[in-house]
Amino acid sequence: MAQTVRGVIARGKGLPVELTDIVVPDPGPGDAVVRIQACGVCHTDYHYREGGISDDYPFLLGHEAAGIVESVGDGVTDVVPGDFVVLNWRAVCGTCRACKRGRPQYCFDTHNASKKMTLTDGTELEPALGIGAFADKTLVAAGQCTKVDPAARAAAVGLLGCGVMAGLGAAVNTGNVGRGDTVAVIGCGGVGCAAVAGARLAGAAKIIAVDIDAAKLDTARSIGATHTVNSRETDPVEAIRELTGGFGADVVIEAVGRPETYKQAFYARDLAGTVVLVGVPTPEMTLELPLLDVFGRGGALKSSWYGDCLPSRDFPVLTDLYLQGRLDLDAFVTETITIDAVEAAFHRMEKGEVLRSVVEL
Ligand code: APR
Ligand code: ZN
Ligand code: ZN
Repeated sequence: MAQTVRGVIARGKGLPVELTDIVVPDPGPGDAVVRIQACGVCHTDYHYREGGISDDYPFLLGHEAAGIVESVGDGVTDVVPGDFVVLNWRAVCGTCRACKRGRPQYCFDTHNASKKMTLTDGTELEPALGIGAFADKTLVAAGQCTKVDPAARAAAVGLLGCGVMAGLGAAVNTGNVGRGDTVAVIGCGGVGCAAVAGARLAGAAKIIAVDIDAAKLDTARSIGATHTVNSRETDPVEAIRELTGGFGADVVIEAVGRPETYKQAFYARDLAGTVVLVGVPTPEMTLELPLLDVFGRGGALKSSWYGDCLPSRDFPVLTDLYLQGRLDLDAFVTETITIDAVEAAFHRMEKGEVLRSVVEL
């Protein structure tokens, strides 16, 4: 039986989000209905509201979530009702050319639910990143559910579903940070701080956090940065070179998504070092660099989609590290809020006051 529950929707460009009744159908083949316990507020939800992602209003927002599987459709074998899961927005297909080559993190045909959730008048909802988890319950493809240890706090491990995984994976998966490496992270919001946490987990010897906001630098230090640079006051390229024996960092992670900070990352790395772009630029941004510098400095210029994560591989491990006290995911939960407070949380996010506000249900 379809169920009517509460959900946070964006009806149109720039309109404040609304808490309203939504209809969640029974799971179709390959689907799962998940009772949401917690869901983080991410910039991407705000971009949906602003029309920056598509015009397919109304959107059901929320996508950094954890909860309990309530029911599953035909053919679902990986999860069963009662499982504690973290949701992901890239359920890999297993059959496209990327999957077949053993690179499922680049899957070109990721799956979402086979049916649509709707408003009570039948209007179809477009769930943010195919999830839509600012809701009591949501319908997803079962492959979007990754089972993790139920001892974990939902508000903390739910963040693995997007921003924290993106940053952590940028360091560990894309940047291949290893023991003894020097790492710099430019931009220390939720994503950059997660990159700091990832670099620490991987055994980096030096982790240099760069931001224009002193409070973000304090947070980065508490998460594992060994040095901080306020790039409003100090040239970050010079500072990073100075802190790395004049060479530059082995891996520089750009977690802002702007040409000027990308250039800083490019010049702040050691010869043959790696730059990882995990910040998301906007369509009008362009980059100009001397091609000779691109050639002459060697190394790798990479971008990191979703931290090059494989949820089935990464979420359970990271949850275990969290439970062992080796990865402080609670540090990313600045505040927990109720489901009617998402609009207010957007404003705090825009002011840079939070790493994450997390809706608890
Ligand atoms: N130099 C250094 N830091 C900067 C600069 C700059 N020129 N401009 C902004 N920042 C810092 C901000 O002070 C903030 O701490 O970058 C950080 C961005 O953090 P958030 O706004 O919290 O964003 P976050 O969630 O971390 O995401 C970062 O990754 O997923 C993408 O869309 C997301 O592009 C965004 C990026
Ligand atoms: Zn695929
Ligand atoms: Zn997100």
